[in-house]
Amino acid sequence: MAAFPRKTFAIISHPDAGKTTLTEKLLLFGGAITQAGAVKARGDARRARSDWMKVEQERGISVASSVMTFDYRGNTFNLLDTPGHEDFSEDTYRVLTAVDSAVMVLDSGKGIETQTKKLFEVCRMRDVPIATFINKLDRDGLDPFELLDDIEKTLALDVTPASWPIGMGKDFLGCYDLIKDQLILFDKTNKSKVNGIIEVCSGLDDAKLDTLLPAHALQKLREDVEMIRGIYPEFNLKDYLDGSLTPIFFGSAVNNFGVQELINGLVEYAPNPRPQPCIERTIDPKEDKVTGFIFKIQANMDPKHRDRIAFMKVCSGHFKRGMKMLHTRSDKTIILHNPVIFLAQDREVAEEAFSGDIVGIPNHGNLRIGDTLTEGEKLHFTGIPSFAPELLRTVRPEDPLKAKHLGKALEQIAEEGGASVFKPIIGSEWIVGAVGALQFEVIADRIRTEFNVPVIFESTSYYTARWIDCEDSSVVRKLETAYRSNIANDHDGALVFLARNAWHIGKIAEDFPQIKLQKTKEQTL
Ligand code: G4P
Repeated sequence: MAAFPRKTFAIISHPDAGKTTLTEKLLLFGGAITQAGAVKARGDARRARSDWMKVEQERGISVASSVMTFDYRGNTFNLLDTPGHEDFSEDTYRVLTAVDSAVMVLDSGKGIETQTKKLFEVCRMRDVPIATFINKLDRDGLDPFELLDDIEKTLALDVTPASWPIGMGKDFLGCYDLIKDQLILFDKTNKSKVNGIIEVCSGLDDAKLDTLLPAHALQKLREDVEMIRGIYPEFNLKDYLDGSLTPIFFGSAVNNFGVQELINGLVEYAPNPRPQPCIERTIDPKEDKVTGFIFKIQANMDPKHRDRIAFMKVCSGHFKRGMKMLHTRSDKTIILHNPVIFLAQDREVAEEAFSGDIVGIPNHGNLRIGDTLTEGEKLHFTGIPSFAPELLRTVRPEDPLKAKHLGKALEQIAEEGGASVFKPIIGSEWIVGAVGALQFEVIADRIRTEFNVPVIFESTSYYTARWIDCEDSSVVRKLETAYRSNIANDHDGALVFLARNAWHIGKIAEDFPQIKLQKTKEQTL
């Protein structure tokens, strides 16, 4: 079967900006959920939406990042979910290591919010190209120039409007498509179908516009566009692909307005799988041999299947079910008898997959985040980091005799990437790190149900954790001696500095200039 080129992307946003609504509308354009590698209709788009919602409800807070696949205009899109509400965790960040581009959704009334910024920073680490969708134009929001200013300043990112809104809130009339020179009129009466009546024109001086827009709105549009052309750079594909410029689309996801322009923009500009760096060499996605890396592990995705699923991003080749693959960390060959793809709450066997696709591999704990699979070549993909947790707590078993069991449980959870776990070099306690408060509840629940160890989380005086990076081991030893109560090991044995406050980190930088305290750590291979 000839495969469509893949566009593997994620939506980054702050809760409530409209990610779910936009996902639903993008699926509408796809018309169906499809199977990675082989198109498979899954009922109409309404059903797709309800499946998605049902999964969220059923799995509640433990819902894992899933993959939604749809075809549109000769492309297969893999949309990776980035859990964003209470279940915001390191997994949310890690999903972004497997995408080739991202769509950033902003609420026009709010601009850049905290979670958008955090997720953007993870994208920036890999120079992921980002298209921006400014949502909720049907409501009164911030001035569009102010919004662009906010993006430029807060994210240090160049912006170029791909469309421009005409009015806002109850006066919202539509958008002018600056790339195609066409007017797209908002039809307030139409909420179900693709919204936007397209009027092609020869430019902003086209007399046709006088008949389509009220005089004051047209005059403002002309002034705005003149200003835009004076201030912002023209859209430049290379800068977008480098991650230094974001095209901005305006719209209203709930009204399905502007979504078509966004998805057409993705068809035209969003990259296919990008070359992926390994320690040994860079892998071209067009290579024949299959390679892939594990970016996420999910335990108990489905109560009916009590195993773990490793999510593999296929980086090259044509993957087929039953393939023998070399697991380069252990140097062992594994046969992928039952690889799965994810269709909302269903798991289905994946017969084949292509570069850019995500395949689930059931396993019993031998696959870890950052692992590489190949057809035989000894390769190790890079760029799948651990992220410093933002919240730290100590954990102890209710029954002190179960400390050993707790240690095992924590080790396993850390290997799966479910939390960061640190063991201070003095004392007997464990420190667990998370990026969202609810993550602690999820972890406590897992340790209780899977390992039969009821645990208690308590606050700690540590504020944050940083990996200690220094070539000179004698300097590291000095740091260890001076700050014994702040040094810990992570689950891989890497040295970590547990800081009591931000000042503490600055002090180390002053006293030990050779030491770098890192916010991320590449997985050990
Ligand atoms: P999220 O996944 O980013 O958290 O956001 P979600 O899509 O759930 O949207 C958050 C709220 O914003 C929802 O309202 C949704 O309907 C609304 N929304 C999304 N796009 C638009 C838009 O273009 N215009 C307006 N005015 N609202 C929009 P809700 O009241 O929380 O839920 P619901 O009852 O409407 O589903």
